[in-house]
Amino acid sequence: MEYDVIIIGSGPGGYTGAIRCAQLGLKTAIIEKYPSLGGTCLNVGCIPSKALLDSSEHFYNAAHTFTEHGIKLSDLQVDLGQMIKRKQEVVDATTKGINFLMKKNKIDEIHGVGSFVDPHTVKIVKADGSEQVIKGKNIVIATGSKPMSFPSMPIDKKRVITSTEALTLQEVPKHLIVIGAGVIGAELGSVWARLGAKVSFVEFADSMIPTMDKTLGKELQKVVKKLGADFYFSHKVTKVENTGDEVVLSIDTPKGEQITLTGDYCLVSVGRRPYTDGLNLEAAGLKADNRGRVEVDDHLRTSVPHIYALGDVIRGAMLAHKAEEEGTFIAETIVGQKPHIHYRLIPGVVYTWPEVASVGYTEEEVKQEGIPYKVGSFPFKALGRARASMDVDGLVKVLAHKETDEILGVHMIGARAADMIAEAVTAMEFRASAEDVSRMSHAHPTYTEAFKEACLAATDNRAINM
Ligand code: FAD
Ligand code: NAI
Repeated sequence: MEYDVIIIGSGPGGYTGAIRCAQLGLKTAIIEKYPSLGGTCLNVGCIPSKALLDSSEHFYNAAHTFTEHGIKLSDLQVDLGQMIKRKQEVVDATTKGINFLMKKNKIDEIHGVGSFVDPHTVKIVKADGSEQVIKGKNIVIATGSKPMSFPSMPIDKKRVITSTEALTLQEVPKHLIVIGAGVIGAELGSVWARLGAKVSFVEFADSMIPTMDKTLGKELQKVVKKLGADFYFSHKVTKVENTGDEVVLSIDTPKGEQITLTGDYCLVSVGRRPYTDGLNLEAAGLKADNRGRVEVDDHLRTSVPHIYALGDVIRGAMLAHKAEEEGTFIAETIVGQKPHIHYRLIPGVVYTWPEVASVGYTEEEVKQEGIPYKVGSFPFKALGRARASMDVDGLVKVLAHKETDEILGVHMIGARAADMIAEAVTAMEFRASAEDVSRMSHAHPTYTEAFKEACLAATDNRAINM
């Protein structure tokens, strides 16, 4: 069987690319080694984590903020079994939706491990051991990533766990130790802290979410601290040991002292690695770089021009929406269109509550690059909408060019920041100035007024409600 395009991997990058290829009239096959489609994001990433974040947030609010709203509840309990079951139902409904989309678009769905036989041929080994060989004029590597670990913190999936196991725990941990206070640590640490676990973060860097604008890490720490979390910044884990009922961590402090932390679970969330195991890249004339990534050019082509790669397995942010854009980009490139991705305008979001969202340059980056800039910021507590909902934590920070007023970066932490950041992305795609946004009407009372006010603050310090 010869296809116009074979896509290996059915995550957000793979399935989006497959649909766009089919829309453009290309005969397309998608290969997935697991029985369900959707990759990391739908099965063990974005979707299940958000389902548990939402459930745990409801519980936390019922326990901590409902009384203030004038709602009395008694005998509040966590039914963890039901919470995990609902999460799985959300996952199943979402992945079945992808099966439907494959059928609707007449994409051949083949389940099994795909590997290169030669640059145009892929062999699929199925769960029952049978094999199928298909040929493609174009092939897309969309094999994603897996959790990373270090020899000092061996994952046993029982007490020393990754995000995958942290989404299916059968009990609320008494003490969850999280190594790495990045995106996964912040989100899944929040889930279990809200459900009653003591959570301790051990982080190599000096703040939470250290790659985002520094203001966000500081603010996020304040809100996560309210959940009762402890932080060990600039600390280095030297050993993690599962002793049966417990896990014991040996840690070097910044002062060179040694401490131990004991918990019942340890979540290792120190990043993810690109995944090409079993793909037999060599048979296609390809090899992974020293960080395990498949190298691509600006058109997402590998060194073999009809083989493309996208998403977590290549350079750039490991985000579902980045992979999706790349899937579309490759399909349109194959048919000779000239698509474009503005990588700096891919937003990053952390789904804690309040949410963290960011796009464009951070303040650290503009400083480093010597770009003249000005800052406008506006706190959520000055918003009527935020007071009404009791979501007063957070702020919006806008960085604009000092001379042209063009918006360079927007960094926010606050209620519904994940949705609010889309306005900043749109504004920046159209190269709006801070004054442009500050002259647009924003509905009152909404959280989005914080973005307008931060833009006013960046334009001659003209915020109205502060
Ligand atoms: P993947 O989704 O990893 O899919 C790759 C697929 O390829 C997998 O299904 C795999 O089984 C398959 N595969 C691999 N090798 C083969 C082979 N040889 N043959 C056949 N199939 C193969 N990102 C966000 O933007 N927002 C979020 O809220 C978010 N939350 C996350 C939460 C968690 C806990 C985690 C772990 C990640 C989260 N991410 C989030 C990141 C997001 O999941 C990834 O960036 C995204 O899934 C990458 O998509 P992809 O298509 O590159 O690869
Ligand atoms: P991450 O890169 O966000 O965070 C890893 C953290 O671990 C960093 O703060 C780093 O300084 C720290 N670290 C690294 N080595 C360490 C060590 N030895 N000891 C202590 N700390 C150490 O990676 P994370 O959280 O594992 O997530 C992986 C990827 O998944 C991210 O790239 C992210 O983009 C994606 N993701 C996205 C989500 C979203 O968009 N909401 C949600 C979850 C994951």
